[in-house]
Amino acid sequence: MEQYAIKGGNPLVGEVEIGGAKNAALGILAAAIMTDDTCMVENIPDVRDTNVMLQAIESIGASVNRKDRHTCEISGRNIVDHTIDNDYIKKIRASYYLLGALLGKYKKARVSLPGGCNIGLRPIDQHIKGFKALGATVRIEHGMIVAEADSLKGAHIYLDVVSVGATINIMLAAVMAEGTTIIENAAKEPHVVDVANFLNTMGGSIKGAGTDVIRIKGVPRLHGTNYMIIPDQIEAGTFMFAAALTKGDVTVKNVIPKHLESISAKLSELGCQVEESDDAVRVVATRQLNHTHVKTLPYPGFPTDMQPQITVALGLSKGTSIVTESIFENRFKYVDELTRMGANIKVEGNTAIIDGVARYTGASISAPDLRAGAALVIAALAAEGVTVIDDINFIQRGYEDFHLKLQSLGGIIEIVDSEKELQKFRLKTG
Ligand code: UD1
Repeated sequence: MEQYAIKGGNPLVGEVEIGGAKNAALGILAAAIMTDDTCMVENIPDVRDTNVMLQAIESIGASVNRKDRHTCEISGRNIVDHTIDNDYIKKIRASYYLLGALLGKYKKARVSLPGGCNIGLRPIDQHIKGFKALGATVRIEHGMIVAEADSLKGAHIYLDVVSVGATINIMLAAVMAEGTTIIENAAKEPHVVDVANFLNTMGGSIKGAGTDVIRIKGVPRLHGTNYMIIPDQIEAGTFMFAAALTKGDVTVKNVIPKHLESISAKLSELGCQVEESDDAVRVVATRQLNHTHVKTLPYPGFPTDMQPQITVALGLSKGTSIVTESIFENRFKYVDELTRMGANIKVEGNTAIIDGVARYTGASISAPDLRAGAALVIAALAAEGVTVIDDINFIQRGYEDFHLKLQSLGGIIEIVDSEKELQKFRLKTG
């Protein structure tokens, strides 16, 4: 079983290229099958989740032609099956986008109930409410969600909670429905806007993405397009916090600084110097971090997917900080692992009370989920001694070449696959 072996203590210094946004890619790859023409999609991150999505669309007959590591030509012309049920797809949350895409195009879809990170109860009632409002029947059968309709008709849908997944899924189902659909209380995340832009370049008519009211005028058909996915806000934010924890100097390149504003603002409060340019952000940290408080919120608030990264940083700050998780109720599971590294954090419900400590020390720990796993890696890069992290497959779901990018910044991190390799790493790194 692969593990990360990490020797902490080196400040991360240099420049790092940020890849395409995983969560935008998942929506866009599902949307790409909604035309019989060919879509060329660029800047797809080469991570486990996007590869599972590509396998899933191939499994129902779509053609997926990889032009290079990050570019695919996709055609939904030969789709013969509307059922997606394999062991892989159950592991990714975004399998639900295939429901919206297949329902929107073929008016029927059968997809395994989604899995994804275990960060709390993750219902999909708002997705289902949206499909039903458009005229579909939706039922659960043998672990599958089955959605069907004779025809889909535009509707006025008010989301009870701000949901990225439901907003994107309803856009997918409504883009070719008859008439106009209005989604109120829509999610405003950059990846919602990216999926809407993609559908619009395919001939869709979606207005207002990025605000809380989205208007979708159904079109009879979509056509092929060429599209480049936006940079990954969370990958960028993770490297920015890695700079803060290791007292480093890191420039994240190929980003949209506007998407990183809530992250940059918190890093400034922590005492880091943050410099923005057109498509890059530089974070310089020279001294012990300040404490602060933070509450996760839908965009443009501080992202829940950055909550573990800011918590590990606050664990090394001066004073007491409070982190409130308002999106997912079970997102502090990594705190036990961080405690093994010397952190002083008390979790009460959806709140973590953090008393900063002067240092972390290396330990043997496990990645409980994708973002928490990445946060533990950056904690380990700042820790004294060697940390060994298990279950790194979670991290590989969403970060391309994570260890290589960290190595290029001076981080001492390797993938080891046996006790012997780990011993070699310990000897080499002293
Ligand atoms: C997406 C992201 C995930 C991110 C999250 C919040 C993908 C593949 N995943 O997840 O990385 O952490 O947005 O930014 O893009 N909810 C309901 N009913 C629903 C749907 C959601 O009650 O039908 C609740 C959820 O339990 C959660 C909140 O709404 O408390 C937000 O969830 P949502 O935005 O839907 O998250 P995901 O789309 O699953």
